[in-house]
Amino acid sequence: MSSSAPRLILLLLAAFILFAAVGATDHIVGANRGWNPGINYTLWANNHTFYVGDLISFRYQKMQYNVFEVNQTGYDNCTTEGAVGNWTSGKDFILLDKAKRYYFICGNGGCFNGMKVSVVVHPLPSPPSAAVATTHTKSAAPVVATTVVKAVVAVVSSIWFGSGWI
Ligand SMILES: *[C@@H]1O[C@H](CO)[C@@H](O)[C@H](O)[C@H]1NC(C)=O
Ligand SMILES: *[C@@H]1O[C@H](CO)[C@@H](O)[C@H](O)[C@H]1NC(C)=O
Ligand SMILES: *[C@@H]1O[C@H](CO)[C@@H](O)[C@H](O)[C@H]1NC(C)=O
Ligand SMILES: *[C@@H]1O[C@H](CO)[C@@H](O)[C@H](O)[C@H]1NC(C)=O
Ligand SMILES: *[C@@H]1O[C@H](CO)[C@@H](O)[C@H](O)[C@H]1NC(C)=O
Repeated sequence: MSSSAPRLILLLLAAFILFAAVGATDHIVGANRGWNPGINYTLWANNHTFYVGDLISFRYQKMQYNVFEVNQTGYDNCTTEGAVGNWTSGKDFILLDKAKRYYFICGNGGCFNGMKVSVVVHPLPSPPSAAVATTHTKSAAPVVATTVVKAVVAVVSSIWFGSGWI
């Protein structure tokens, strides 16, 4: 990771293009308070609306905390058994690619001090033009958005890890 600065610039550029292309939102958990103990993340989540293709990002002191995606049991009990994923970079961007309820906790104790957040991700609303034409026609826009997201994620990954396509 000695040459990570140019890669970081490319990563930020790619992220910017991604957002410009699909209008996705990056929801920074806890806003400027980040991912830390003693914050009620239910209040934070209630203040945001999440759509498929949005990102949720966690900013924290790496080594001290982390992020696990768990199921409802893990969220309720602060356990990481059967975790779906885990992140440790200190600045983790997680793509919310499904319309469902997601659960994230801190996996090394912080959960017991409130470091848990649950968010409901909504399907993308249909563009107005499709709604005018016919209310029940499925729009192609979400598919296009998802494809763009996947392409950008693949490019970013290959830039970041320098190991070709995922
Ligand atoms: C966080 O706020 C919500 C909504 O006011 C409340 O129901 C919940 O008990 C609070 N959680 C904690 C851990 O204080
Ligand atoms: C909710 O969002 C508004 C507008 O962005 C902000 O001013 C307010 O502080 C937020 N409240 C919480 C609990 O995050
Ligand atoms: C989760 O905790 C509740 C009580 O807090 C307990 O009844 C339940 O068995 C626990 N579930 C698991 C899977 O540990
Ligand atoms: C969550 O995962 C654990 C471990 O795989 C499992 O025992 C538990 O039943 C799951 N809970 C739910 C609500 O799916
Ligand atoms: C974290 O995720 C990696 C795969 O991405 C997995 O190999 C590892 O076991 C996970 N760690 C824990 C503590 O679950």
